[in-house]
This record gives sequence, structure tokens and C-alpha cells, in this order.
Amino acid sequence: MIEHDVIIVGGGLAGSRAAVEIAKTNPQLSVAVIAKTHPIRSHSVAAQGGMAASLKNVDDEDSWEAHAFDTVKGSDYLADQDAVEILTREAPDVVIDLEHMGVLFSRLPDGRIAQRAFGGHSHKRTCYAADKTGHAILHELVNNLRRYGVTIYDEWYVMRLILEDQQAKGLVMYRIRDRQLQVVRAKAVMFATGGYGRVYNTTSNDYASTGDGLAMTAAAGLPLEDMEFVQFHPTGLYPVGVLISEAVRGEGAYLINSEGDRFMANYAPSRMELAPRDITSRAIVKEIRAGRGINLDGTPGGPLVHLDVRHLGKEQIMSRIPFCWEEAHRLVGIDAVHQPIPVRPTVHYSMGGIPTNTDGQVRSGSDGLVEGFFAAGETACVSVHGANRLGSNSLLECVVYGRRTGAAIARYVEHRKLPDIDEQRYISEAQQRMQGLLDQPGQYRIGQVRQAFQDCMTEHCGVFRTASVMAEGLEKLRTIRQQAEQVYLDDHGTVWNSELVEALELQSLLIVGEMILTGALNRQESRGSHCREDYGDRDDSNFLKHTMAYYSPAGIDIRYRPVAITLFQPQERKY
Ligand code: FUM
Repeated sequence: MIEHDVIIVGGGLAGSRAAVEIAKTNPQLSVAVIAKTHPIRSHSVAAQGGMAASLKNVDDEDSWEAHAFDTVKGSDYLADQDAVEILTREAPDVVIDLEHMGVLFSRLPDGRIAQRAFGGHSHKRTCYAADKTGHAILHELVNNLRRYGVTIYDEWYVMRLILEDQQAKGLVMYRIRDRQLQVVRAKAVMFATGGYGRVYNTTSNDYASTGDGLAMTAAAGLPLEDMEFVQFHPTGLYPVGVLISEAVRGEGAYLINSEGDRFMANYAPSRMELAPRDITSRAIVKEIRAGRGINLDGTPGGPLVHLDVRHLGKEQIMSRIPFCWEEAHRLVGIDAVHQPIPVRPTVHYSMGGIPTNTDGQVRSGSDGLVEGFFAAGETACVSVHGANRLGSNSLLECVVYGRRTGAAIARYVEHRKLPDIDEQRYISEAQQRMQGLLDQPGQYRIGQVRQAFQDCMTEHCGVFRTASVMAEGLEKLRTIRQQAEQVYLDDHGTVWNSELVEALELQSLLIVGEMILTGALNRQESRGSHCREDYGDRDDSNFLKHTMAYYSPAGIDIRYRPVAITLFQPQERKY
């Protein structure tokens, strides 16, 4: 059995920042990061637009209070305001801290960190490294993992959280290269496993974003919070769905419909293209539904709208948003200096996740905590984003709550012993699960079932939702689950068996999808990203509360947790 004081699953921004903090705080601790890719290939590397912090380099009217208000209003008042206060107060400090680690932020002419406009933020406060901010930050953090002696298990797939008597004791994982199974025990386990974009058929997320950490937590009997809140980023490149950063609109791009209008004037006149993402995504879908979308050949009535940067000029495009230009050029043959970019909403982010307190310790319900279990980043729900996240608050959350969770873990493990684990029991259970998949005499291909599932989620739990459409989706999911029990694998080998990984990921996707659909059907109101056509208004008297959903193969049990309202009373949300 492998042993470490702390094991962190996920090598992206939140996991790496936590690992560095633990190792810096107490160099005697043995800290390990386990990731199913190499940490440098974690999805954080794809983050583009930036990280919000009231540094006041461009706008000296800004303050942490203004940032907090924008975040809470953006969340449609569902965010926990104590957690938002921490996020926004600590933001300037974590940016400077990253700069000291060597992160190359873009600069103003006087040498200070540059800041740009972003959706839903009332001041220019987003710090950036062109449109490759995640890349710049993650590379420095991973360098620091090595500098501080963190052990890295890259390309290991974690199959199971070992939770006994409400205490996390370790994990079961296997090395993808040769299928070597291992049990790991630790004084503290942290999940920083990112999101689940692959639940949907069009997403900005990478192939590894299959919600494994969420599914393992749910399968262990712990709740997931607010899973119905799925963020659709307004500008996915059509048809592939990869991200065209909000930074493009932050630099001044226009959204245009088939009539040549900047249609955001009809939806958020004070913010135009820089309205929050839920509002902008709904506006695009409404334009398309009303026949004012555009086809790829430029004719009206199609499935996309145009994102136009031509007026910015080549110099600004190439210096501030070079990656977006490159994506459009490489993937759909558009030269954005001379042509508009075809876009439509794409699944981007999970507002919900594993519930934690502000030290990253996982909640067992509305008041208890799970011993030895922590989470941070997209997989966690602390909850700073509530019903809708503002762009550039996600990298910030990873770093603020990665650092805080790391510090809390370093304190937590100080006087704890390694737990006892029945290693053999967990190894044989994992072997049986793998062998069961390998030997399954099924009739379906994994890709076929996954596609049916992703299409079902896309059709039945999208930007707009109704009870009947979602109920039908849940019904279809039941059939898809049965099909998933009859998938067959061609590859029975032990070397780099990516089919086996996909079979396990499919199980994660199905659990997460069911949690999203059930939460969405249950929440009979419209709030932030959750837009019910049959319940058009926000309903604070019945639903100003967090969903806490408990999974079991027999069904999902929904309970609730109150929202922390400490700074701002809920008001009507208008832009
Ligand atoms: O549009 C973007 O660059 C994404 C940023 C974010 O999700 O925070």
C-alpha cells in the first residue's frame, strides 16, 4: 500500500496551488498529486481570458466590495457571501503571489499588471496573460510542485474514494500504462478534479472533463450541491464548441445577428456584449430561435451568430487575443482580422459540485463535515458562484481556495495518524469491477452510448428547460443506463487500455448527468443559468437555498442548505 500524509487528486490550478501551500507550510509532510493526465495537461491550461482582482491598476475606483457585489449579483444571489468576501478580499494578494512565483502577466506601459473588462464586472479588473492565462499560471505552479518536492503520479486513474464512517481514508487507483492497481492511504484526501463538460455534446472542456471526482463523491454517499447550475459560455466556436474567450468581447468585440444588429442592446442595454454569461447565452439562443441566427455561408436563419472583431484592427487582435485568432483560423478557416467568427453557446463550467466550507473541508450535509476530505476548484462548491459564475472568477477561485485549502490541510494533518485500511478488500473489489467491464458480453460500443447520453443531456437540460422535457430526459437516461451495462470492450490488454478508461468515465458521466437533470427538475424557478420556461421568475420564498442531492442507484434524494447572506440583500437582477 502506498502512503502519503496528503493525497490530492487533480493537478490543475486548485490541486497544484494546494500542494505547493502544504509543502511550503510544512516541508516534512509527504504530499502527492495524482492525475489522469500529466498535470500540465489539466484543463486549467486551457483557461484563456484571465483572473479577476481589484488591483486598481487600470481603474482606481475598484474595490473588493465592488468585486464582491458584482459576484453576488452575477450569482443571482445564490452565492454564499462569506465565501465571496474571502474570494474578493484575497484576490489582489494571490495575483501578486503568482507574479512572485514567476507568472508572466501582460503589462501596462508603466510595467504594472494589465487589467481588462469582463462580463458582469463593473470595473476593469481581469488580470491576464494575453488569452493564454491558464497556460501561464499552470506552468509556474507545476514547476513549483517539483521545487517543493511534491510526488506526482501522472496518468493514474482514481477509481474510488475510500470513505468509512464519514472519514476519507484514501483511494484506489491504477496506472493507465500497465493497469497496476494500488491502494493509497493518507491523513487527508483532497479532490481538485475539475468539471464535467463532457456530459454534453458540445463543450469547451477537454476530453478528460468527465466529472470523475463528483461521481466518486456521490457514489460514496456524500451530497453534491447545486448541480442544476450548468454554465453555457456564450461564444463557443461553431461547430466545434471550443472556447472563444470572453476576453474577445472584453477587448471590444460585437455580437451580431443576421440583420446586422448588435442584439445585446435588447437584452442588457447597460452592459451590451459584457453582460453575464447566462443572460448573453440566452440572448443568443433567443435570436437563433427567432430566425435571426446565421448559417456558415452567411445566409440568415442558421444556428449561430457572429462575433466581430474586425474593427479592433490586426495589431490589437494579434497582441491581446492571438490564441482566439489562431483557433478560428486553424479549426474553421476564419481569418478574424477580416471575417466575423461563427459562435453559439457551449457548455463551459459547473457552478455546483462537492460542498465545502471556506477551508475546503467537505460537508456531509447541511451542518456536518467529513473527516479527512477536502475539495477545491471547479469540482467543489464553496459556493462563490451561486447560480451563475462571472468570467475570470474561476481561476481566482482555484488559486484563493487552493491556497486556503492547502493551508487548512497542513494544519489538519499535524496531529493525525494514518488510517487503517483493509487493502486486500479494496484491491479485489477494484479488480472485479475492471474485470466485469472487460468481460461484459455486451452489444453496445462505448462511443455509441456516450453519444446517446450527451445528446440526451443537450436536448433535455440545455439553456432553456421545462418539466416535461426534463422528465422525458430522465426517462431516456434510464434506458441509456441499461445500455451502458451492456457495452463491450475490444481491448482486453493491460497496456494503455484507453477503452477501459472510457468505460469507467462513462459510469462517472451517467451519475453526474442524472444529478444535473434531477436537480434541475426539482428547482421550480428560474435563477442564473437555470432557466425554466415553465417557472419564469426567481422564487426567493421557496428556492433561495442550496440543493444538496444524494445519489443512490435507486434514485436521488434532494435536501437543502441555507444560503449565507452577510453583505447584500437579494434584489432584482437587471443589467
Ligand atoms: O472566456 C474566457 O476566457 C473564460 C474565462 C472563464 O471562464 O473564467
